[in-house]
Amino acid sequence: NSGSNEAWGSRIGLILAMAGNAVGLGNFLRFPRQAAANGGGSYMIAYFIALLLLGIPLMWIEWGVGRNGGRYRKGHLPGMFAALWKHPAAKYVGVVGMVVPLGVMIYYTYIESWTLAFAIFSATKDYWGITSQEGMIGYLRSFQGLTPAGGTEYHASYTPYAFFAFTMLINIYVLSKGISGGIEKLAKIGMPILFLFAIVLAGVVLTLPAQPGVGATPAQGLEFIYAPDFSRLGSPGIWLAAAGQIFFTLSVGMGSLQAYASYLSTKDDIALNGIATAATNETAEVVLGGSIAIPAAVTFFGVAGAMQIAQGGSFDLGFATMPVVFQQIDKTLPIGNLLGVMWFGLLFFAGITSSVSMLTPITAFFREEFGIAREKVAWTLGAICFCIGMLHVHWLGHGFLDEWDYWVGTFGLVLVAITEVIIFVWIFKPENAWKSIHMGADINIPKIFKFIMTYVTPIYLLVILTWWGKDEALPILLNQRSAGSSSPVSDVDMPYITISRGILVLFVIVFLFFIRTAWKK
Ligand code: PHE
Ligand code: NA
Repeated sequence: NSGSNEAWGSRIGLILAMAGNAVGLGNFLRFPRQAAANGGGSYMIAYFIALLLLGIPLMWIEWGVGRNGGRYRKGHLPGMFAALWKHPAAKYVGVVGMVVPLGVMIYYTYIESWTLAFAIFSATKDYWGITSQEGMIGYLRSFQGLTPAGGTEYHASYTPYAFFAFTMLINIYVLSKGISGGIEKLAKIGMPILFLFAIVLAGVVLTLPAQPGVGATPAQGLEFIYAPDFSRLGSPGIWLAAAGQIFFTLSVGMGSLQAYASYLSTKDDIALNGIATAATNETAEVVLGGSIAIPAAVTFFGVAGAMQIAQGGSFDLGFATMPVVFQQIDKTLPIGNLLGVMWFGLLFFAGITSSVSMLTPITAFFREEFGIAREKVAWTLGAICFCIGMLHVHWLGHGFLDEWDYWVGTFGLVLVAITEVIIFVWIFKPENAWKSIHMGADINIPKIFKFIMTYVTPIYLLVILTWWGKDEALPILLNQRSAGSSSPVSDVDMPYITISRGILVLFVIVFLFFIRTAWKK
């Protein structure tokens, strides 16, 4: 059925699309910053434990849930849950698998649009000459529309809106072309480019000489992240941050891996493909993601300087420090702006192969349950995402994005994961889940993972959710602190935060209504 747009064209296409889904901004922006901000070595220990006990088991669970749903032609969590659990509540629990990817898609695409803008600014040397860290932060803030009164403006105020509109347009275009005709084609182009750029950048950064006056080497950057350090393992913050990163980076807890897997049959392997996806993502993250931004920042700013940058604004490392680094490199190796194009280009391809996956569950929902054509769903969703996304662009300075990043991009992922582990492993029964994952399998998964999936993963998830609830979710809800920092939301920002939460609540209500309507028919 390679001619059909509602199936994968080839195994290599499927693997590239799945890897494209997982490998994203999380690998190259979120990971280095998190590793550095959380002290490197200790964080990495918690990271690998979360990978083994949460990430990898969930990867197999999600491929299993998705492919099983595909047997009933359900590409969305409400339908997948209803197929596994014969209870009227099952479909409503699946609402998390609609709201979370929709919410994340909107702000993720916005950030993706910055990478496109900065790739162009690198090509045109727009920021050339702004060679200090503070200067580049000013440039970034100006682009984001956050210049303080009296500060320098570098672009027309409509610039970020235009880039966001264009990025959303490309996303929706790809989505409208279907599985093999859109998503798979994009992955076949985007993934090789991404890896090529990442390898070149890592090669350039790792061979940088020590800079006069700094005296640090790229190797010290690697050592800082990877040298095992047991001193901070007692702090729960590290464990929560590491678990959150594992979720985000592997794309688990979202509904999109499941949607991709729903286009497979029980004759197809998912055991080997699942672990291959996780392995590709981890190579891109730990090897490539760890070898670019941090070693580069350490070389030019020292270990302490790099740590300080990482603890500053979320995007300073990628969007302010790296352009400074490229201009420094340019003094001896005159390809600085080309490196800038590669860095932001790699981020753009990493981002778009992820963001196109996020609306697939919702597109499947309206196609399958209401018989609406893919193109129609895609463009309608695109228009809605664009309008709501404009609020993010407009109110970035009021904590709008941080609020969503917390509720849907962090807390929501764990919530989805808990529901699917309970439904697939406990209610559908561990025996059936295990058998389902092994249908058509090219490998035998070590038996220990059956035990991990049944007991360790769900308990781990419950502990995280409880801890988050008490340490973060509740304090944020009660405004004892904000989602983006440890201080409470100001009176000025509060109305915006309320609106941002209101939209998420509205999403839940609207989707509950659609689910009810779909099942009544
Ligand atoms: N895994 C992607 C990243 O690392 C983000 C993502 C999350 C994509 C969930 C799809 C679904 O950037
Ligand atoms: Na990732």
